[in-house]
Amino acid sequence: MNWSDYEVTIPAVKTANELETLEQKLFGRKSGLITEALKGIKDVAPEKKKEFAADLNMWKKKLTILIDEKKKELLGADDGDSIDISLNLPKKERGHLHLIPEFIREVEEVFGRMGFDTAYGPEIETEEFNFNKLNIPADHPARDGQDTFWAKGVKNTVLRTHTSPVQIRYMQEHKPPFRMICPGKVYRKDSDATHSPMFHQFEGLMIGKNISLANLKAVLVTSLQELIGRKVEFRFRTGYFPFVEPGMEMDMMWQGDLSTSREGKWLEMGGCGMVHPNVLEGVGIDSKEWQGFAFGFGIERPLMIKHQIPDLRSFYEGDLRFLRQF
Ligand code: DAH
Repeated sequence: MNWSDYEVTIPAVKTANELETLEQKLFGRKSGLITEALKGIKDVAPEKKKEFAADLNMWKKKLTILIDEKKKELLGADDGDSIDISLNLPKKERGHLHLIPEFIREVEEVFGRMGFDTAYGPEIETEEFNFNKLNIPADHPARDGQDTFWAKGVKNTVLRTHTSPVQIRYMQEHKPPFRMICPGKVYRKDSDATHSPMFHQFEGLMIGKNISLANLKAVLVTSLQELIGRKVEFRFRTGYFPFVEPGMEMDMMWQGDLSTSREGKWLEMGGCGMVHPNVLEGVGIDSKEWQGFAFGFGIERPLMIKHQIPDLRSFYEGDLRFLRQF
């Protein structure tokens, strides 16, 4: 085969593999035809050597260019390094927020649009804030109902049993009128399908001159409806909490999944009411001039209704089969 034949064969090549074979045949380091011919220069008769070498180098250049051009054409890459965009890589998994922080963000968003500020408080709380200032004195039976974790070796210190102490902290630092919500973790000695020793609540507080129970109802129904994302049935019952008067409990109905035995039953979402004058006076707010409502709701429970989750403990087990559903 003459070198000139390759001027025809190279451009006619159809695949990258074929081209590589041809390139090896010509330029392969061990026995490529061009490589061998170059090695042979030294054996050519001296008077012919120059011409032979020049001719060979001309072909070397020419064929290299042809191969490079063909490579570009076949592989579409400038430097001859190919990137095979047709290769099927495993799908990259994208994570997402856990249901609880996601819901907290939505709570902040929905209430934020209604003018509510977001506040946070400590999870290790003093007895003073967790109970006393909420009108729950030392001998008050309401303390027993809270199944409190007391700190060992630190006096008068608890893992907060509810987000209500943040109301007190907020009122001490702000002058009315104000509206705030406070999401966070709370702790109680409790564990079953609808209770966990650590769970989440969000507290709400709105203080002004003419705030009434009607405002409380409107704010709660509007916001929860939006947070659940569909129409849900609520009911208010009277309920006792020392820091509000009158006090109520709000229930939401399990709806949508006929397979759960709870369908059509009420699930308690939290408590609410008009802030007790003792609480207001305790933080230096004149209860004759100012009044308002407060509420404290679980976060897991509305989520259970929203997504038909029968057991609250699934939130914390970290089981990917559960987490991936949302
Ligand atoms: N802190 C109460 C609890 O956990 C719930 C609660 C009831 C909060 C009435 C309130 C309220 O702000 O007004 O059990």
